[in-house]
Amino acid sequence: MRVISDLDECRAWVGDRSAPRPRVLVPTMGALHEGHLSLVDLARERAGDDGEVAATIFVNPAQFAPHEDFDRYPRQLETDLAMLEGRGCDVVFAPERPAMYAPDASVAVVESGIGAGLEGASRPQFFTGVCTIVAKLFNLTQPDAAVFGEKDYQQLAVIRRMVRDLDFPVEIIGAPIVRETDGLAMSSRNAYLSDDERAQASVLSRALGEARELIQQGQVDVLTLLGQVEQRIASQPLSRIDYVAGVHPDTLESIDAIGEDGLLIALAVWFGKTRLIDNLCWRRNLAGGA
Ligand code: PAJ
Repeated sequence: MRVISDLDECRAWVGDRSAPRPRVLVPTMGALHEGHLSLVDLARERAGDDGEVAATIFVNPAQFAPHEDFDRYPRQLETDLAMLEGRGCDVVFAPERPAMYAPDASVAVVESGIGAGLEGASRPQFFTGVCTIVAKLFNLTQPDAAVFGEKDYQQLAVIRRMVRDLDFPVEIIGAPIVRETDGLAMSSRNAYLSDDERAQASVLSRALGEARELIQQGQVDVLTLLGQVEQRIASQPLSRIDYVAGVHPDTLESIDAIGEDGLLIALAVWFGKTRLIDNLCWRRNLAGGA
């Protein structure tokens, strides 16, 4: 596995016309877990025997607000590299922060539609930071396809929109949420949780699972469903709800009733100082939803 941190070396790799194709990219911020590695597996599948799987590791300062956890975000490059190598990754691009942003950088990629609500409402800087770094990583690594997790459902939708609207020649592949045995969606931030918070955090997937059951029993009223989810989460004393929202899975606009296209329930909940997100995407045309 080749590890590149230098931008010139990255350009030499990308400029090599004999490099294997397709190149499938998995952008990450490191502190890897099985969720990230499932993206690598999908990338390996998409790349095939002749193609190349590339991952990026970069804790992107532009997507953190000053009061957020940029400084304490877990960093474990050597462990991450071993995990990526174990899953058949071919190239890792792990640049240093100064290489990625000029001190007077003044151009950004702004998505102003589907990124405005949910995460965008709570974290106004977030999607501009994400779009800008992903655009830069696409430009630097020139992938044919890139894999993003449905754990960050809105991020995946925003990236699809950016690729469409700015004509990036990159196929975007969505990957299902990987969960711990008790249902908690895997996240690098789970490491912040105390034992008590960790135990209570499994309520998120339970609440979403119960909503799925209610939908399967015929409940179409979104406010009723959200009320159930909120009540369930609030039963855990260490939880503090940021939002629980019911939106159209494609437009991410609020809906009152489940229609033909189904429903996305997206939530963000604090446990102590840790903010966790999770979601349930229920599609009418997929048996039982995604
Ligand atoms: P990060 O949080 O490291 O996540 C990298 C990728 O892994 C994202 O596409 C995310 O959706 C996916 N992922 C994380 N946990 C997952 C899980 N439990 N199941 C499935 N996929 C999961 O998302 C980012 O980094 C950054 O915003 C980035 C896109 C790299 C831009 O900086």
